[in-house]
Amino acid sequence: MDFELTEEHLAVREAARDFTQNVLLPGVIERDEKMEFPKEQIAQLGELGFMGMMVDPKYGGGGMDALSYAIAMEEFSKVDSSSSVCVSVCNSLVNYGIEQYGSEEQKQKYLIPIARGEAIGAFCLSEPEAGSDATSQQTTAEDMGDYYLLNGTKNWITNGNSASTYIVIAQTDREKGHRGINALIVEKGMEGFIVGAKENKMGIRASDTHTLLFNDVKVPKANRIGEDGFGFKFAMKTLEGGRIGIAAQALGIATGAYELALAYSKERKAFGKEICKHQAIQFKLADMATDIEAARMLVYKSAWLKDQGLPFGQASAMAKLYASKVAMDTTIEAVQVHGGYGFVKEYHVERLMRDAKITQIYEGTSEVQKIVISRGVLKD
Ligand code: CAA
Repeated sequence: MDFELTEEHLAVREAARDFTQNVLLPGVIERDEKMEFPKEQIAQLGELGFMGMMVDPKYGGGGMDALSYAIAMEEFSKVDSSSSVCVSVCNSLVNYGIEQYGSEEQKQKYLIPIARGEAIGAFCLSEPEAGSDATSQQTTAEDMGDYYLLNGTKNWITNGNSASTYIVIAQTDREKGHRGINALIVEKGMEGFIVGAKENKMGIRASDTHTLLFNDVKVPKANRIGEDGFGFKFAMKTLEGGRIGIAAQALGIATGAYELALAYSKERKAFGKEICKHQAIQFKLADMATDIEAARMLVYKSAWLKDQGLPFGQASAMAKLYASKVAMDTTIEAVQVHGGYGFVKEYHVERLMRDAKITQIYEGTSEVQKIVISRGVLKD
């Protein structure tokens, strides 16, 4: 068993760390306050190759492994999860989905621009009445011969306005249940496709989360991913990898909050000494450090399994379940270590605490992860 990172992994970490400090950190508080999408920052991430990290170089990507991607996600998320969720959706949902299951034509037309950082993608599964219960799709894709007629509403769509390529999951044949669902690639600008209201969120406020409306949108048959009826399995397979990205995001949020709390505890004095010299604070730091290390092991292991070509769905669900809990617990404690300063924006930990919560909700709630894990456990 080798726990050492390779030179390449260390280089990715260094590059992502520099980018986080020099580009993501400046203005992160203001973007959060104003709900301002990090357009310039995402463009720069694209130029540096972070938007297509795992994509084959022949499709404009970096050809890197999932562990490199997890390491980069962890670094960005120490400071700015509004940016890192955009990185995550593009890399592990949209790019992976098209590269793994799409046609050559779809790869040429839609994958290459996203992998090169010239376009942004979105993954549209959730609906007003279908969140965790993802088989209950109400959006319909009626088979009209050479095209699908798409009608319905999607909710809480990350990159909802900034994207130009949308993977939309919709029901074609209700009688077939989940086997009648398709995944379609929809372009912004297609007639009848409307970007609706932007959500005013508790956390990741700078990411643009929108409702999307589809009114008689004609989607060419050539835009269906995989065979007829493959849409639900496509979504499930793709989310397995997506959960590595969100688990890494949660790990980054926890680590960012812990590092701030550690530094603050060495500066702040109370009762005649630095607060880190009080056992009450030392025990908090010890718990945080231990939880984070355990979360990191789960996140890296799930990425490693994917890189080995081994099944990783259960491992990524465990990583997401645990790392998101650690993110929540650690950020709450980091605010506590900061006392009153933790409650004001300048000290960053309150934002990390707000950002942590979404990691227990999107790409499957903690309860969904437990469904996935328990099914695996019972099968063994
Ligand atoms: N791989 C392949 N096939 C899978 C699979 C997987 N990981 N998981 C399920 N399937 C298959 C099953 O085998 C079954 O097929 P068969 O009948 O042919 O055997 C079919 O899919 C239906 O599976 P289930 O019976 O298990 O389905 P279910 O209704 O019980 O739901 C669930 C299971 C795990 C709860 C699933 O609905 C789920 O994951 N829900 C959460 C959805 C989610 O994560 N949404 C996130 C939205 S995207 C997002 O958040 C992006 C963002 O903005 C950041």
